[in-house]
Amino acid sequence: MKIVIVGSTGQLGTDLIKTLPEDHEVVGLTHHEVEVSNYTSCLTLKEHHPDVIINTAAFHKTDQCEEEPEKTFLVNAVGPRNVARVSKEIEATTMFISTDYIFDGEKNEPYTEEDAPNPINTYGISKLAGELLTKQNPKHYVIRVASLFGAAGASGKGGNFVETMIIKAKKQEPISVIDDQYMSPTYTRDAAKIIKTIIESRLPFGTYHATNKGFCTWFHFTKQIFSLLNLNPPLTPIKANQLQVKARRPKFSALKSTKLLQHGIQPREWTEALSDYLIEKGYLKSATPLKS
Ligand SMILES: NC(=O)c1ccc[n+]([C@@H]2O[C@H](COP(=O)([O-])OP(=O)(O)OC[C@H]3O[C@@H](n4cnc5c(N)ncnc54)[C@H](OP(=O)(O)O)[C@@H]3O)[C@@H](O)[C@H]2O)c1
Repeated sequence: MKIVIVGSTGQLGTDLIKTLPEDHEVVGLTHHEVEVSNYTSCLTLKEHHPDVIINTAAFHKTDQCEEEPEKTFLVNAVGPRNVARVSKEIEATTMFISTDYIFDGEKNEPYTEEDAPNPINTYGISKLAGELLTKQNPKHYVIRVASLFGAAGASGKGGNFVETMIIKAKKQEPISVIDDQYMSPTYTRDAAKIIKTIIESRLPFGTYHATNKGFCTWFHFTKQIFSLLNLNPPLTPIKANQLQVKARRPKFSALKSTKLLQHGIQPREWTEALSDYLIEKGYLKSATPLKS
């Protein structure tokens, strides 16, 4: 298949670029080459004659989205609408990457594809709009991921949570981390592999959750990073309401997939994925912790 990746230099885009070419012809397009919020710019997608267009582009600085709703909706809603429109015109499949933040977090157990979205911040509302607009192309996939960590780091956020924690720990800075928001940490390499399988297996069009298995709080996630790396900075659990932030966040946004399981796809545990990430980044040589 010929697959075009929009946002190819991003955290997930980089791992898609590494994973998909094993079996497919892949074209990666940077932000410089295509601006999703501009329909005319999106017409360039047609020149590549793709079978599938994967749209990873987003404005996802959650607090900044509250301050800049116009930009948020242009990139996260008008963008997917443009990509879906162009895809439909050339009878290509559209794949839109969405988020756990389309849920309100009140379920208190992992959300499946069957659960009703109810976003509580501007970012989540814009991504839900992006999901709905993507569906204007009947040949669509909506892939929800969460709390990504990948070797490239999120270009939109300037790194990722794991890297931020390691940098602080190595400086022995006191670290306070939220212990009452639960999520499913997800390695972009694993998400990219799931996406590859979905495309190759020609799973029915629709919505899929593509996170690693399991969930934890941000505090527990941090403890696991430090434990694997034998780091011992001063680490304190805090409540979300102790932080002054612009955007409300769901208190429990863990995802699981019932649909992938039905097709024999079983994502691995986030703890295992985290170890492999630390190995990929050179922090660990094997599953055995090294002295820092
Ligand atoms: N990161 C997370 O924890 C997380 C959690 C849940 C869901 N998601 C979703 O997962 C997807 C991938 O996230 P990520 O962490 O890989 O993001 P990322 O690293 O910020 O990558 C986004 C990519 O899209 C490009 N881009 C941004 N705005 C664009 C625009 N208007 N037109 C065209 N390209 C544009 C960026 O290029 P420049 O950097 O050059 O602008 C970058 O290459 C996003 O859709 C996000 O909403 C992410």
